[in-house]
Amino acid sequence: MNFKEKIRVIPDFPSEGIRFKDITTLLKDGEAYRAAIEALAEHYKGMEIDVVLGPEARGFVVGAPLALALGAGFVPVRKKGKLPGETIEAKYDLEYGKDILTMHKDAIQPGQKVLIADDLLATGGTISATLDLVRQLGGEPVGVAFWIELMYLNGREKLGDVAVHSLVKYE
Ligand code: PRP
Repeated sequence: MNFKEKIRVIPDFPSEGIRFKDITTLLKDGEAYRAAIEALAEHYKGMEIDVVLGPEARGFVVGAPLALALGAGFVPVRKKGKLPGETIEAKYDLEYGKDILTMHKDAIQPGQKVLIADDLLATGGTISATLDLVRQLGGEPVGVAFWIELMYLNGREKLGDVAVHSLVKYE
């Protein structure tokens, strides 16, 4: 399937000059949504992944079905103040200022194999903070999966030696 055709590009959102990659057009197409999850799952089958992590909010719509497809658990990574139990934190840079991602302290056991999933890799800030959370708990990050990668922002460079896999690339 040509996934790029299913993703709508909206010019000048959220600000002038940005060409926003809108996945809602892919999500509402049941066949395309399933195929986009299966295409990622295919890449990680046999790797015995224990948990898939997804950062809110779009990481949930990729990470949760991917976890089901791989027979793994799902762990939500959330903005500060949303999770009810004891949490750990990682700061990350936004265009202006900083934000904080959190995860439950007992979400990962040391040595568990962790796959991180999100819709899109841009600067890599979100995922490098998520990798920080995984490492704080002693998890083993075995890969990072995206539907979309914005090659011109060089997000991969921020992610060190963790294997990155993406379905659709924008140059
Ligand atoms: C978007 C996207 C990724 C992140 C990528 O999420 O879903 O998580 O930005 O950008 P980065 O590589 O530069 O960190 P956003 O923070 O807009 O939140 P949302 O999923 O709640 O819309």
